[in-house]
Parts: sequence; C-alpha cells; structure tokens
Amino acid sequence: MENFNYYTPTRVVFGRGTEEKVGELVKAQDCSKVLVHYGGGSVKKSGLLDRVFRSLEEAGVSYLSLGGVVPNPRLSLVYEGISLCKREGVDFILAVGGGSVIDSAKAIGYGVANEGDVWDFYARKRQASGCLPIGVVLTISAAGSEMSDSSVITNEDGWLKRGYSSNFGRARFAVMNPELTMTLPKYQTASGCVDIMMHTMERYFNQCGNMELTDGISEHLIRTVMKNAKLLMDEPDNYDARAEVMWAGSLSHNGLTGCGTDGGDWACHQLEHELGGMFDVAHGAGLAAVWGSWARYVADARPQRFAQFAVNVMGVEAGADEMETALRGIEAMEAFYRDIEMPVCIRDLGVEPTEEQMRELAEKCSHFRKRTVGCVKKLDVDDMYRIYKNALKYEAKQIHGVER
Ligand code: NZQ
Ligand code: ZN
Repeated sequence: MENFNYYTPTRVVFGRGTEEKVGELVKAQDCSKVLVHYGGGSVKKSGLLDRVFRSLEEAGVSYLSLGGVVPNPRLSLVYEGISLCKREGVDFILAVGGGSVIDSAKAIGYGVANEGDVWDFYARKRQASGCLPIGVVLTISAAGSEMSDSSVITNEDGWLKRGYSSNFGRARFAVMNPELTMTLPKYQTASGCVDIMMHTMERYFNQCGNMELTDGISEHLIRTVMKNAKLLMDEPDNYDARAEVMWAGSLSHNGLTGCGTDGGDWACHQLEHELGGMFDVAHGAGLAAVWGSWARYVADARPQRFAQFAVNVMGVEAGADEMETALRGIEAMEAFYRDIEMPVCIRDLGVEPTEEQMRELAEKCSHFRKRTVGCVKKLDVDDMYRIYKNALKYEAKQIHGVER
C-alpha cells in the first residue's frame, strides 16, 4: 500500500428535507453576503431555488444570485461571477445544482480570492493561494464535486476544457437530499452513474500492489452503483436507489477509493474532457464512449488487474488466461452501458469527429505534445489518437486493433 494523505473537510448533511437547513448552515459560516449560483433553470422549475431563498431569508442571510451555468461550464460566466462578487462584497458562494454549477462556483471563488486571471490556474501556470468558501445543495449525483478538490471549466477561446485541483476549493458543506435528483431525465441519471463508477475505476486501474481494503470498497461501490442505476431506469422515484447512488457519488470522488493507490490512471477523463470541450457532450456519457477503446488498448499492460475487475466487479467466469478474462470483463461493462442506454462508442454520442478533429482532440489532450496521460500505460499523442479512432465505432474483441 502506498503512503497517502486523506483529507475530507466537507460536512455532509444527507437525507429528506435537508435543503431546509441551508439557511442555518450558511449562517454558521459567519459570512456577510452570499452568492447563490445555479444553472439553466431546473432548480427554478422544481421550486428548489425558492426554498433555498426562503431558508436564507429566515436565517437572516443577505444574498444575491447568478444563474445560467451550462453543462461543461464556461469561463465567461466565471468572469462575470468574479466581477459581481467583487462589486457586491460577496464572501460566500452557495452552489445549487450539479457538478457544473459547483465547479463554476469554485472557479469564481478562486478568481475572487486571487489576483490576476483565474484561467492561469486551469492552464497550470500558477497555484491558487485561497478560494472563497463554498457551500453546496446538490441536485444530481455524478461529478462528486461536492466533496472533491477539483473544478473543471471550459474556455470558449479554443474550447479548452481544463481541470484544476486544490484543497482550497473543497466545499465547507454539502446538502444532499436524494429526492432532489428524482426530476433528472433518464439520460442524466445514467450519465451520472457512469461518472461515479469511473471516478473509482480511474483509481482502481493503477500500478500498485496489495490494497485489500481499498479494492474491496471500490469493487463494492461500483457494483452498488450498477445495481441501483439499473433500478433507476425503471423506478426514477426509488428513494433508496437514489440515496445509494448519491452517497456513492461523493465517496467515489472524495479520495476514499484512492487511498493507498498511486493516484490511478485518469486517461479516460483526460480523453473525455477534450470530447466535452469540442462537442459539448454529457461528461459521463463521453466517458462510457471512450472507456472500452481505452481498456482494450491498455489491458495487456496489466491483465491481472483487468481480470480481477472482470471477476470481482463484473461477475464473469474466468477464461483460459488473464487476458481472456480481462476481455470478458470489458465486454460485460459495455453490455451494462447498453443496458442503461449509455454509449459504447463516440458515434453513439451522436457526434462524428472527422479525421482532422480526432487529431486535434489528441493534440489538445496531450497539451500539444507536452504531456502523456494514464499510468496503466503511458499514452502519448499517437496513442490518444488511436484510442479516439478505435472509439469512433464499436468493434468487438479488438486489442491493439488485432482480433482475438
Ligand atoms: O442547468 P440545469 O437546468 O440545472 O440542468 C442540469 C444540466 O442540464 C440538469 N440537472 C441537474 N440537476 C437536475 C437537473 N435536471 C433536472 N432535475 C435535477 N435535479 O442536469 C444537467 C447536467 O448538469 P451538470 O451539473 O452539468 O452535471 P454533472 O454533475 O454531471 O456535472 C458535469 C460537469 O462536472 C465536471 C464535468 O467535466 C462536467 O463539466 N466534472 C467535475 C468534477 C469535479 N469537479 O470533481 C469531476 C468530474 O470528473 C467531472 O469532470
Ligand atoms: Zn468524472
């Protein structure tokens, strides 16, 4: 087991009706003015935003609001939020929404607490020295941003989608009422479940030795999400299934399933971020679209790990050798994605990148040939291009383009 530093400062207030407590939770933060940040309107339609305003008013908290965050949140709105907060003396941001709203709130928080252009942090030019405190009322189980240290923003100039991680950005509290997720469209529920599973799978596929406890937590978490994702396809109002998925979403990305690992692979996230930046696809769906291609491309670098995943998570019978078992596991995961109406290739996303665009995706993902991604196998710009290309349409049983 590798050394690790596990830090989860976020207070979780979980369960039915918990959004009613948001006023007192904010008040306890000892702030003078709050920015309530939200998305494209689902929180207005559901009445949640009004309930949040009422709770703040009852607690005597002064606030203003800024909506309009879109999935794959944009830098331009972040700039607008930074100016607004500075002008109005905002000292706390309450994100009411999903990963996009929370990430936008974190970016605004960095922009207010630090001089200069906030994009510098996402462009990896420098590190933040603080962030405005953030609180969350979560409406979708997916990104895990409510407990994670990361924030992912899309710069419209070049459509670059970039992440920045720092403990300063961790939310002070997260209000999580699973009932709030019952209004999600089926596609968003499924896409969220894939993202949750992937946050643990990215950590699980690593180059480490023995991690009995972390592996057990991870394998059980992924199985739990798969079981409840399937249930939610037919029973969107199933509270217990919503609750299991919501809690898994936070635990999957707060660091727990990475304890004792080398940090994990994360290539699929990097590959997907470019797809999201160029084609504005839902993040979880984009991950499902590239995962199979990635897995087939790298499995021979760690067949034992892929075979363990196949047996312990996907429940497949072991094959004649580790590689065969690994491949069965990959196919079983793709079958699961299809079961919940998620893509297994890029075409399934409804987009068709040209040859030139696939080269551009790879260039951007490699930060214009300045980095490799992944640890199971270090992927350079040519590997990235091949993974995108293999992901374009579904090809069964291919490893490195060779039929098995
Ligand atoms: O904007 P509104 O109208 O609220 O609609 C949203 C949006 O269209 C809708 N929605 C949210 N809650 C709803 C609802 N619709 C009905 N009822 C509800 N209760 O769902 C759509 C997607 O929302 P979004 O916030 O974009 O989803 P998600 O939580 O999946 O966040 C995706 C973003 O997070 C980033 C992704 O890259 C993507 O930009 N990620 C952030 C991470 C982090 N900060 O740690 C890690 C992840 O790997 C991920 O990269
Ligand atoms: Zn993700």
